[in-house]
Amino acid sequence: MKTIEVAVSKTYNVLIGSGTLAGLGEIARGAAPRGERAAVISDDTVAALYAAGVEESLEKAGFSVVRFTLPHGEQSKNGSSYLQILDFLAGKHMSRSDLILALGGGMVGDIAGFCAATYMRGIKYIQIPTTLLAMVDSSVGGKTAIDLPAGKNLAGAFYQPDAVVCDCDVLRSLPEDILRDGCAEVLKYGILGDVELFRHMRVKGLEFDREFVISRSVAMKRDYVCADERDTGVRRMLNLGHTLGHAVEKLSNFGLSHGKSVAIGMATVARACAERGICSRDCAEEIEAGIKALGLPTVSGESLSAIEEIMLSDKKRNGSVMSVIVPEKIGKCSVLDIPVEELGDFMKAGF
Ligand SMILES: NC(=O)c1ccc[n+]([C@@H]2O[C@H](COP(=O)([O-])OP(=O)(O)OC[C@H]3O[C@@H](n4cnc5c(N)ncnc54)[C@H](O)[C@@H]3O)[C@@H](O)[C@H]2O)c1
Ligand SMILES: [Zn+2]
Repeated sequence: MKTIEVAVSKTYNVLIGSGTLAGLGEIARGAAPRGERAAVISDDTVAALYAAGVEESLEKAGFSVVRFTLPHGEQSKNGSSYLQILDFLAGKHMSRSDLILALGGGMVGDIAGFCAATYMRGIKYIQIPTTLLAMVDSSVGGKTAIDLPAGKNLAGAFYQPDAVVCDCDVLRSLPEDILRDGCAEVLKYGILGDVELFRHMRVKGLEFDREFVISRSVAMKRDYVCADERDTGVRRMLNLGHTLGHAVEKLSNFGLSHGKSVAIGMATVARACAERGICSRDCAEEIEAGIKALGLPTVSGESLSAIEEIMLSDKKRNGSVMSVIVPEKIGKCSVLDIPVEELGDFMKAGF
Protein backbone atom coordinates (compact mmCIF):
# COMPACT_ATOMS: atom_id res chain seq x y z
CA MET A 1 0.00 0.00 0.00
CA LYS A 2 1.15 3.54 -0.76
CA THR A 3 0.25 6.71 1.10
CA ILE A 4 0.56 10.07 -0.61
CA GLU A 5 0.20 13.20 1.48
CA VAL A 6 -1.49 16.23 -0.02
CA ALA A 7 -0.61 19.34 1.99
CA VAL A 8 -2.73 22.27 0.85
CA SER A 9 -5.26 24.38 2.81
CA LYS A 10 -6.03 21.03 4.45
CA THR A 11 -3.54 18.16 4.78
CA TYR A 12 -4.86 14.73 3.89
CA ASN A 13 -3.68 11.33 2.76
CA VAL A 14 -4.47 9.40 -0.39
CA LEU A 15 -4.22 5.67 0.30
CA ILE A 16 -3.62 3.40 -2.67
CA GLY A 17 -3.49 -0.37 -2.67
CA SER A 18 -5.36 -3.65 -2.92
CA GLY A 19 -7.97 -4.16 -0.24
CA THR A 20 -7.65 -0.68 1.31
CA LEU A 21 -11.45 -0.54 1.70
CA ALA A 22 -11.18 -3.07 4.52
CA GLY A 23 -9.62 -0.34 6.68
CA LEU A 24 -12.20 2.28 5.80
CA GLY A 25 -13.94 2.34 9.20
CA GLU A 26 -10.70 3.18 10.96
CA ILE A 27 -9.82 5.88 8.41
CA ALA A 28 -13.31 7.35 8.80
CA ARG A 29 -12.94 7.37 12.57
CA GLY A 30 -9.65 9.21 12.20
CA ALA A 31 -11.31 11.81 9.96
CA ALA A 32 -14.37 12.28 12.18
CA PRO A 33 -13.38 11.37 15.76
CA ARG A 34 -16.66 12.60 17.24
CA GLY A 35 -18.87 11.64 14.31
CA GLU A 36 -22.04 9.67 14.98
CA ARG A 37 -23.43 9.40 11.47
CA ALA A 38 -21.89 8.57 8.13
CA ALA A 39 -23.75 9.24 4.87
CA VAL A 40 -22.66 7.12 1.92
CA ILE A 41 -23.45 8.84 -1.39
CA SER A 42 -23.16 6.62 -4.44
CA ASP A 43 -24.74 5.71 -7.75
CA ASP A 44 -26.92 2.64 -8.31
CA THR A 45 -24.24 0.61 -10.15
CA VAL A 46 -21.48 1.21 -7.62
CA ALA A 47 -23.77 0.93 -4.59
CA ALA A 48 -24.93 -2.53 -5.70
CA LEU A 49 -21.30 -3.67 -5.81
CA TYR A 50 -19.59 -1.95 -2.89
CA ALA A 51 -21.93 -0.06 -0.55
CA ALA A 52 -22.68 -3.01 1.76
CA GLY A 53 -18.98 -3.65 2.43
CA VAL A 54 -18.28 0.03 3.00
CA GLU A 55 -21.23 0.36 5.35
CA GLU A 56 -20.25 -2.69 7.37
CA SER A 57 -16.78 -1.28 7.93
CA LEU A 58 -18.25 2.10 9.00
CA GLU A 59 -20.68 0.43 11.40
CA LYS A 60 -17.84 -1.53 13.00
CA ALA A 61 -16.17 1.81 13.66
CA GLY A 62 -19.29 2.94 15.51
CA PHE A 63 -21.04 5.03 12.85
CA SER A 64 -24.75 4.92 12.25
CA VAL A 65 -24.85 4.72 8.43
CA VAL A 66 -27.32 6.15 5.92
CA ARG A 67 -27.17 5.86 2.13
CA PHE A 68 -28.26 8.07 -0.77
CA THR A 69 -28.15 6.56 -4.25
CA LEU A 70 -28.29 8.47 -7.53
CA PRO A 71 -28.98 6.94 -10.94
CA HIS A 72 -25.58 6.39 -12.61
CA GLY A 73 -24.43 8.75 -15.36
CA GLU A 74 -23.44 12.38 -15.79
CA GLN A 75 -27.08 13.51 -16.03
CA SER A 76 -27.40 12.94 -12.26
CA LYS A 77 -24.78 15.61 -11.53
CA ASN A 78 -27.37 18.38 -11.51
CA GLY A 79 -28.98 20.98 -9.27
CA SER A 80 -32.02 18.91 -8.47
CA SER A 81 -29.97 15.90 -7.27
CA TYR A 82 -27.80 18.30 -5.29
CA LEU A 83 -30.78 19.72 -3.40
CA GLN A 84 -32.22 16.25 -2.87
CA ILE A 85 -28.98 15.16 -1.22
CA LEU A 86 -28.89 18.25 1.01
CA ASP A 87 -32.51 17.61 2.06
CA PHE A 88 -31.64 13.99 2.74
CA LEU A 89 -28.67 14.98 4.96
CA ALA A 90 -30.82 17.48 6.86
CA GLY A 91 -33.61 14.90 7.24
CA LYS A 92 -31.09 12.49 8.77
CA HIS A 93 -29.92 15.22 11.19
CA MET A 94 -26.35 15.10 9.96
CA SER A 95 -24.19 17.52 11.96
CA ARG A 96 -20.85 19.15 11.21
CA SER A 97 -18.99 16.49 13.19
CA ASP A 98 -20.48 13.75 10.98
CA LEU A 99 -19.04 12.45 7.73
CA ILE A 100 -19.96 12.09 4.06
CA LEU A 101 -18.43 9.33 1.93
CA ALA A 102 -18.41 9.76 -1.83
CA LEU A 103 -18.42 6.20 -3.19
CA GLY A 104 -18.17 6.13 -6.98
CA GLY A 105 -16.61 7.67 -10.05
CA GLY A 106 -16.05 11.35 -10.72
CA MET A 107 -19.76 12.05 -11.07
CA VAL A 108 -20.46 10.97 -7.49
CA GLY A 109 -17.20 12.51 -6.22
CA ASP A 110 -18.03 15.91 -7.70
CA ILE A 111 -21.63 16.18 -6.49
CA ALA A 112 -21.03 14.58 -3.07
CA GLY A 113 -17.99 16.83 -2.63
CA PHE A 114 -20.08 19.89 -3.46
CA CYS A 115 -22.72 18.76 -0.95
CA ALA A 116 -19.95 18.34 1.66
CA ALA A 117 -18.62 21.81 0.82
CA THR A 118 -21.98 23.47 1.30
CA TYR A 119 -24.05 21.43 3.76
CA MET A 120 -23.93 23.47 6.99
CA ARG A 121 -21.15 25.49 5.29
CA GLY A 122 -18.91 22.46 5.09
CA ILE A 123 -18.73 19.00 6.63
CA LYS A 124 -16.05 16.34 6.57
CA TYR A 125 -15.88 13.98 3.62
CA ILE A 126 -13.88 11.09 2.27
CA GLN A 127 -13.51 10.28 -1.40
CA ILE A 128 -13.69 6.59 -2.30
CA PRO A 129 -13.05 6.74 -6.05
CA THR A 130 -14.09 3.63 -7.98
CA THR A 131 -13.06 4.53 -11.54
CA LEU A 132 -9.47 4.98 -12.70
CA LEU A 133 -10.27 8.56 -13.71
CA ALA A 134 -11.62 9.35 -10.26
CA MET A 135 -8.59 7.75 -8.56
CA VAL A 136 -5.96 9.59 -10.59
CA ASP A 137 -7.79 12.83 -11.23
CA SER A 138 -11.11 13.96 -9.81
CA SER A 139 -10.83 12.72 -6.21
CA VAL A 140 -7.58 14.59 -5.58
CA GLY A 141 -7.34 18.36 -5.58
CA GLY A 142 -10.60 19.52 -4.07
CA LYS A 143 -12.53 20.60 -7.15
CA THR A 144 -16.21 19.83 -6.57
CA ALA A 145 -19.09 20.75 -8.86
CA ILE A 146 -22.44 20.15 -10.44
CA ASP A 147 -23.51 20.84 -14.02
CA LEU A 148 -26.00 23.55 -14.95
CA PRO A 149 -28.19 23.55 -18.07
CA ALA A 150 -25.78 26.16 -19.48
CA GLY A 151 -22.72 23.91 -19.13
CA LYS A 152 -20.65 21.41 -17.22
CA ASN A 153 -19.23 22.14 -13.75
CA LEU A 154 -20.63 25.67 -13.69
CA ALA A 155 -21.47 25.62 -9.97
CA GLY A 156 -18.94 24.31 -7.51
CA ALA A 157 -16.35 24.95 -4.86
CA PHE A 158 -12.77 24.19 -3.99
CA TYR A 159 -13.16 21.91 -0.99
CA GLN A 160 -10.51 19.38 -0.09
CA PRO A 161 -11.51 15.95 1.26
CA ASP A 162 -10.30 14.61 4.63
CA ALA A 163 -8.97 11.43 3.03
CA VAL A 164 -9.02 9.60 -0.30
CA VAL A 165 -9.14 5.80 -0.31
CA CYS A 166 -8.27 4.08 -3.60
CA ASP A 167 -8.81 0.33 -3.55
CA CYS A 168 -7.29 -1.07 -6.76
CA ASP A 169 -9.49 -4.18 -6.46
CA VAL A 170 -12.66 -2.24 -7.34
CA LEU A 171 -11.25 -1.60 -10.81
CA ARG A 172 -11.88 -5.28 -11.61
CA SER A 173 -15.60 -4.62 -12.05
CA LEU A 174 -15.04 -1.50 -14.16
CA PRO A 175 -16.01 -1.95 -17.83
CA GLU A 176 -12.87 -1.93 -20.01
CA ASP A 177 -13.97 1.08 -21.98
CA ILE A 178 -14.30 3.19 -18.83
CA LEU A 179 -10.90 1.96 -17.63
CA ARG A 180 -9.45 3.08 -20.97
CA ASP A 181 -10.82 6.59 -20.45
CA GLY A 182 -8.89 6.89 -17.20
CA CYS A 183 -5.76 5.71 -19.01
CA ALA A 184 -5.83 8.87 -21.15
CA GLU A 185 -5.31 10.95 -17.99
CA VAL A 186 -2.49 8.64 -16.88
CA LEU A 187 -0.74 9.08 -20.25
CA LYS A 188 -1.17 12.81 -19.75
CA TYR A 189 0.73 12.68 -16.45
CA GLY A 190 3.44 10.64 -18.12
CA ILE A 191 3.86 13.15 -20.94
CA LEU A 192 3.79 16.04 -18.47
CA GLY A 193 6.50 14.76 -16.19
CA ASP A 194 7.00 11.04 -15.78
CA VAL A 195 8.59 9.22 -18.69
CA GLU A 196 8.75 5.95 -16.73
CA LEU A 197 5.01 6.06 -16.14
CA PHE A 198 4.36 6.79 -19.82
CA ARG A 199 6.54 3.91 -21.00
CA HIS A 200 4.99 1.53 -18.48
CA MET A 201 1.57 2.27 -19.97
CA ARG A 202 2.82 1.97 -23.53
CA VAL A 203 4.35 -1.42 -22.85
CA LYS A 204 1.74 -2.92 -20.52
CA GLY A 205 -1.44 -1.49 -22.07
CA LEU A 206 -4.52 -2.25 -19.97
CA GLU A 207 -2.49 -4.77 -17.93
CA PHE A 208 -0.63 -1.93 -16.21
CA ASP A 209 0.44 -2.28 -12.57
CA ARG A 210 -2.49 -0.68 -10.69
CA GLU A 211 -0.72 0.47 -7.54
CA PHE A 212 2.33 1.83 -9.36
CA VAL A 213 0.30 3.72 -11.97
CA ILE A 214 -2.26 5.17 -9.58
CA SER A 215 0.33 6.28 -7.06
CA ARG A 216 2.62 7.90 -9.64
CA SER A 217 -0.37 9.69 -11.20
CA VAL A 218 -1.68 10.89 -7.84
CA ALA A 219 1.80 12.11 -6.90
CA MET A 220 1.93 14.15 -10.10
CA LYS A 221 -1.52 15.63 -9.57
CA ARG A 222 -0.59 16.36 -5.94
CA ASP A 223 2.46 18.33 -7.03
CA TYR A 224 0.41 20.56 -9.32
CA VAL A 225 -2.36 21.00 -6.75
CA CYS A 226 0.13 21.88 -4.00
CA ALA A 227 1.81 24.43 -6.24
CA ASP A 228 -1.49 26.01 -7.29
CA GLU A 229 -4.45 24.90 -5.18
CA ARG A 230 -7.00 27.22 -6.78
CA ASP A 231 -5.97 26.72 -10.39
CA THR A 232 -4.70 30.18 -11.22
CA GLY A 233 -1.23 29.22 -12.51
CA VAL A 234 0.78 26.05 -13.10
CA ARG A 235 -2.18 23.73 -12.48
CA ARG A 236 -3.23 24.66 -16.02
CA MET A 237 -0.48 22.33 -17.26
CA LEU A 238 -2.99 19.58 -16.46
CA ASN A 239 -4.94 20.84 -19.46
CA LEU A 240 -2.57 19.03 -21.83
CA GLY A 241 -4.77 17.68 -24.63
CA HIS A 242 -7.86 19.18 -23.01
CA THR A 243 -8.40 22.40 -24.95
CA LEU A 244 -8.72 20.52 -28.21
CA GLY A 245 -10.18 17.51 -26.40
CA HIS A 246 -13.03 19.56 -24.94
CA ALA A 247 -13.85 20.88 -28.41
CA VAL A 248 -14.04 17.37 -29.87
CA GLU A 249 -16.09 16.17 -26.89
CA LYS A 250 -18.53 19.05 -27.27
CA LEU A 251 -18.85 18.61 -31.05
CA SER A 252 -19.79 14.97 -30.49
CA ASN A 253 -22.48 16.21 -28.10
CA PHE A 254 -20.64 14.26 -25.39
CA GLY A 255 -21.11 11.04 -27.37
CA LEU A 256 -17.32 10.70 -27.49
CA SER A 257 -16.01 10.08 -23.97
CA HIS A 258 -13.76 12.54 -22.17
CA GLY A 259 -10.79 10.15 -22.19
CA LYS A 260 -11.04 9.47 -25.91
CA SER A 261 -11.43 13.18 -26.63
CA VAL A 262 -8.35 14.01 -24.55
CA ALA A 263 -6.40 11.24 -26.32
CA ILE A 264 -7.25 12.85 -29.67
CA GLY A 265 -6.30 16.24 -28.22
CA MET A 266 -2.89 15.02 -27.03
CA ALA A 267 -2.10 13.20 -30.29
CA THR A 268 -3.12 16.19 -32.44
CA VAL A 269 -1.08 18.65 -30.39
CA ALA A 270 1.92 16.29 -30.49
CA ARG A 271 1.73 16.02 -34.30
CA ALA A 272 1.43 19.82 -34.59
CA CYS A 273 4.45 20.24 -32.30
CA ALA A 274 6.55 17.81 -34.35
CA GLU A 275 5.63 19.75 -37.49
CA ARG A 276 6.79 22.99 -35.81
CA GLY A 277 9.94 21.52 -34.30
CA ILE A 278 8.69 21.99 -30.72
CA CYS A 279 9.18 18.29 -30.16
CA SER A 280 10.89 15.66 -32.32
CA ARG A 281 9.02 13.40 -34.74
CA ASP A 282 10.05 10.45 -32.58
CA CYS A 283 8.40 12.08 -29.58
CA ALA A 284 5.09 12.62 -31.44
CA GLU A 285 5.23 9.06 -32.76
CA GLU A 286 5.85 7.68 -29.30
CA ILE A 287 2.92 9.66 -27.90
CA GLU A 288 0.67 8.24 -30.62
CA ALA A 289 1.99 4.73 -29.98
CA GLY A 290 1.22 5.06 -26.26
CA ILE A 291 -2.31 6.23 -26.96
CA LYS A 292 -2.89 3.39 -29.44
CA ALA A 293 -1.47 0.83 -26.99
CA LEU A 294 -4.36 1.66 -24.68
CA GLY A 295 -6.91 1.29 -27.48
CA LEU A 296 -7.60 5.04 -27.54
CA PRO A 297 -8.10 7.10 -30.72
CA THR A 298 -5.54 9.54 -32.14
CA VAL A 299 -7.55 11.33 -34.83
CA SER A 300 -10.83 13.21 -34.88
CA GLY A 301 -13.53 12.89 -37.50
CA GLU A 302 -14.56 16.53 -36.92
CA SER A 303 -13.53 19.35 -39.26
CA LEU A 304 -10.67 21.65 -38.32
CA SER A 305 -12.86 24.76 -38.65
CA ALA A 306 -15.54 23.39 -36.31
CA ILE A 307 -12.90 22.46 -33.72
CA GLU A 308 -11.19 25.83 -34.03
CA GLU A 309 -14.45 27.69 -33.50
CA ILE A 310 -15.19 25.83 -30.27
CA MET A 311 -11.59 26.16 -29.06
CA LEU A 312 -11.76 29.91 -29.48
CA SER A 313 -14.82 30.11 -27.25
CA ASP A 314 -13.01 28.05 -24.58
CA LYS A 315 -12.54 29.62 -21.17
CA LYS A 316 -8.77 29.02 -21.41
CA ARG A 317 -8.57 31.68 -24.08
CA ASN A 318 -6.74 34.66 -22.77
CA GLY A 319 -7.79 37.67 -24.88
CA SER A 320 -5.96 37.57 -28.18
CA VAL A 321 -3.85 34.51 -27.39
CA MET A 322 -4.69 30.91 -26.73
CA SER A 323 -2.53 29.10 -24.20
CA VAL A 324 -1.87 25.58 -25.40
CA ILE A 325 0.12 23.04 -23.38
CA VAL A 326 2.71 21.48 -25.67
CA PRO A 327 5.11 18.55 -25.29
CA GLU A 328 8.81 19.28 -25.79
CA LYS A 329 9.66 15.66 -25.05
CA ILE A 330 8.00 12.90 -23.07
CA GLY A 331 8.22 14.06 -19.47
CA LYS A 332 8.54 17.76 -20.29
CA CYS A 333 5.83 20.16 -21.44
CA SER A 334 5.48 23.92 -21.61
CA VAL A 335 2.86 26.58 -22.30
CA LEU A 336 2.74 28.02 -25.79
CA ASP A 337 0.78 31.23 -26.26
CA ILE A 338 -0.59 31.16 -29.78
CA PRO A 339 -2.19 34.33 -31.23
CA VAL A 340 -5.79 33.38 -32.02
CA GLU A 341 -5.39 34.15 -35.71
CA GLU A 342 -2.60 31.56 -35.90
CA LEU A 343 -4.41 28.82 -34.01
CA GLY A 344 -5.98 27.32 -37.16
CA ASP A 345 -2.59 27.00 -38.85
CA PHE A 346 -1.04 25.48 -35.76
CA MET A 347 -3.78 22.87 -35.40
CA LYS A 348 -3.80 22.14 -39.13
CA ALA A 349 -0.26 20.86 -38.80
CA GLY A 350 -1.58 18.21 -36.42
CA PHE A 351 -4.48 17.04 -38.56
N1 LIG B 1 -13.22 17.35 -9.76
C1 LIG B 1 -12.29 17.18 -10.68
O1 LIG B 1 -11.14 17.64 -10.54
C2 LIG B 1 -12.63 16.40 -11.91
C3 LIG B 1 -11.62 16.01 -12.79
C4 LIG B 1 -11.96 15.23 -13.88
C5 LIG B 1 -13.28 14.84 -14.09
N2 LIG B 1 -14.25 15.23 -13.20
C6 LIG B 1 -15.65 14.80 -13.36
O2 LIG B 1 -15.68 13.40 -13.24
C7 LIG B 1 -16.85 12.91 -13.93
C8 LIG B 1 -16.47 11.69 -14.74
O3 LIG B 1 -16.03 10.69 -13.85
P1 LIG B 1 -15.99 9.16 -14.28
O4 LIG B 1 -15.34 9.04 -15.60
O5 LIG B 1 -15.44 8.43 -13.12
O6 LIG B 1 -17.52 8.82 -14.55
P2 LIG B 1 -18.73 8.27 -13.66
O7 LIG B 1 -18.60 8.65 -12.25
O8 LIG B 1 -19.96 8.68 -14.37
O9 LIG B 1 -18.53 6.69 -13.77
C9 LIG B 1 -18.62 6.05 -15.03
C10 LIG B 1 -19.50 4.82 -14.95
O10 LIG B 1 -18.80 3.77 -14.30
C11 LIG B 1 -19.60 3.15 -13.31
N3 LIG B 1 -18.69 2.66 -12.28
C12 LIG B 1 -17.94 3.41 -11.44
N4 LIG B 1 -17.12 2.64 -10.73
C13 LIG B 1 -17.35 1.38 -11.09
C14 LIG B 1 -16.80 0.12 -10.71
N5 LIG B 1 -15.79 0.04 -9.84
N6 LIG B 1 -17.30 -1.01 -11.27
C15 LIG B 1 -18.29 -0.92 -12.21
N7 LIG B 1 -18.84 0.24 -12.62
C16 LIG B 1 -18.37 1.38 -12.07
C17 LIG B 1 -20.54 4.24 -12.86
O11 LIG B 1 -21.72 3.70 -12.30
C18 LIG B 1 -20.81 4.99 -14.17
O12 LIG B 1 -21.85 4.37 -14.88
C19 LIG B 1 -17.37 14.07 -14.74
O13 LIG B 1 -18.52 14.58 -14.12
C20 LIG B 1 -16.24 15.10 -14.70
O14 LIG B 1 -16.71 16.42 -14.80
C21 LIG B 1 -13.93 16.00 -12.13
ZN1 LIG C 1 -9.54 15.23 -18.14
